[in-house]
Amino acid sequence: LDNGLMRTPPMGWLAWERYRCDIDCENDPKNCISENLFMDMADRLAEDGWKELGYVYVNIDDCWSSKQRDDQGRLQPDPKRFPGGIQKLARYLHDRGLKLGIYGDMGKLTCGGYPGTPLDKIELDAQTFADWEVDMFKYDGCYSNATEQEQGYPLMSKALNATGRPIGYSCSWPAYQGGLPPKVNYTQLGEICNLWRNYGDIQDSWDSVLNIVDWFFENQDVLTPAAGPGRWNDPDMLIIGDFGLSMEQSRSQMALWAIMAAPLFMSNDLRTISSGAQSILRNKMAISINQDALGIQGRRIVKEKSGIEVFWRPLSKNASALLFFSRRTDMPYRYTTSLSKLNYTAGSYKVFNVFTDEAASLKDSTEFVVSVNPTGVVMWYVSAPAKFNLRQFY
Ligand code: GLA
Repeated sequence: LDNGLMRTPPMGWLAWERYRCDIDCENDPKNCISENLFMDMADRLAEDGWKELGYVYVNIDDCWSSKQRDDQGRLQPDPKRFPGGIQKLARYLHDRGLKLGIYGDMGKLTCGGYPGTPLDKIELDAQTFADWEVDMFKYDGCYSNATEQEQGYPLMSKALNATGRPIGYSCSWPAYQGGLPPKVNYTQLGEICNLWRNYGDIQDSWDSVLNIVDWFFENQDVLTPAAGPGRWNDPDMLIIGDFGLSMEQSRSQMALWAIMAAPLFMSNDLRTISSGAQSILRNKMAISINQDALGIQGRRIVKEKSGIEVFWRPLSKNASALLFFSRRTDMPYRYTTSLSKLNYTAGSYKVFNVFTDEAASLKDSTEFVVSVNPTGVVMWYVSAPAKFNLRQFY
């Protein structure tokens, strides 16, 4: 969507995967969906240096609202859990240099059973969000049919634009249509949405990450051309810092999301997150690959029978990212290849290892060995020597 927003994939924090529809503030005050949770995360993003790395959105997901609209028909937050109201929360974030995202649903009800935004409420709700000074809106698709969605998603895009407030627009539409053409029209999506969920929900497990990765790269010929500045495929949240991934797998998620030019929304507890998980999420080179200004989504270029796969993403300044990924579950695998085998033909390159900080020069014809850990990755930033400047990452 050409609204000037999200020229690189949006980054921030989103409540859903970790906090779901926990509304039990009496017994679980630290984790329930309430203004306190979002203010806590805002404090962490602002005070712990996440904001400077680009993580600026704090996004509310389902279960924030009251079960009833107010007497003027407007959505309203649950009064017990959001006593200050959404606008006050937005101001709290804005004062800290952050942005607020909110959630709604193109249908009678949200997926969690809260009031939705069906066709006849679109303009009213868009205006309400703008009045509250919201910066991003995720429009889910439960409880509506294909015909309603076909009208609703473009209409919401217009309605948000008509408010005059810049509001990033995340569409779950393709996920409800199977994610593929001919049902899904990616040209149209790129015109009306800033990002879109193509596929199922991420869960806190490596299986879930693999399932998503499989789908996105099996369909890369359709998905890659759809992405670009202002319009991104969204493979769903980062679960790094939660319970389901090992450190290797956490690096793999970060690296694969960087290759995919995916939005980077963490769904975790920033109050208690381990330093190991933090160092992965804060990796400057992985982030800079994700945020590359060209906005070209990367591809899988090699799929070996051994379970080793190689991914590649072209970057600005004639650079690129290479990712070696192992699906093996036995031991570190020594994979032999050369840059020429991976389509590099310009002679000599500098390669910088994203997760170990090592650098080396490499001729395209020279065979080399990378050792890739089970379910892990080795990620390289590759550039021609003359243009290589390490300092840009420090
Ligand atoms: C759907 C979406 C999720 C989340 C839930 C909320 O499943 O795909 O991302 O928003 O609804 O109920």
